[in-house]
Amino acid sequence: MEVIIRQTAKDAAKLTAKMIANAINETPDLNLGLATGATMEPVYAELVQMNCAGKVDFKDVTTFNLDEYVGLSPNNKNSYRYYMDSNLFDKINIKKENTHLPNGLALNYDKEANNYEKMINEAGGIDLQLLGIGNDGHIGFNEPISSLSSKTRVKVLTPETYKQNCIYFNPPESMPKLAFTMGVGTILNSKQIIMLIIGKKKANIAAQAIEGPLTSMVTGSAIQAHKNVTVILDEDAASNLKMREYYDFAFKNNPKWQRYQ
Ligand code: PGA
Repeated sequence: MEVIIRQTAKDAAKLTAKMIANAINETPDLNLGLATGATMEPVYAELVQMNCAGKVDFKDVTTFNLDEYVGLSPNNKNSYRYYMDSNLFDKINIKKENTHLPNGLALNYDKEANNYEKMINEAGGIDLQLLGIGNDGHIGFNEPISSLSSKTRVKVLTPETYKQNCIYFNPPESMPKLAFTMGVGTILNSKQIIMLIIGKKKANIAAQAIEGPLTSMVTGSAIQAHKNVTVILDEDAASNLKMREYYDFAFKNNPKWQRYQ
């Protein structure tokens, strides 16, 4: 795992976008795994700008999102399909048919989840997966004690996740309690992972995911078992890390990071 700390949230988002753009420039038909949430909004804004400026081309990119709320239609403003369309897909030159999220309206949960998993596999797997982390340590909606080898399925959200996200719903109680999510195992199957963590309120969970024990109690810690992970944090999110000095030293001295200095 590599850990890169940027001074501001904006710098951290910019670096994340740059890494994604470089991956697309190296592999134009990249299978890109995407995440939602407040953390990702500035990353997508940056990618939109880069696309407009001709610095990255999404025409052959395929995307798979981590999760979707059960029961929400694509035109519901709180669905992750709506979030992705309005923050990214409608503003870049991606082919809409190449963008995938679980269908929140599917009634047969198992069938939808299995199809989603199959679609990822048939596309050749995810090349680069973008991840945030929830207040309860989740990646996707893999809540605490999710199996570390889980595949796409429906999960019941924790009260903590409910509290974190119901602020976006009107009324707050209309937030679904179930969501489709890629499993921890699905995420670990991707070839490369970038996790972005922003803000003081994530400092504790960031330290647990990066430096704590690998445990299903914090599914974000599963990234420790993956062989190609970069975690990008702003100063606030990095404030509880014990090995901080080493992370800065490694970033400065590893030639592969030279183009990002
Ligand atoms: P956030 O959500 O970016 O809105 O903090 C992240 C998550 O819950 O995974």
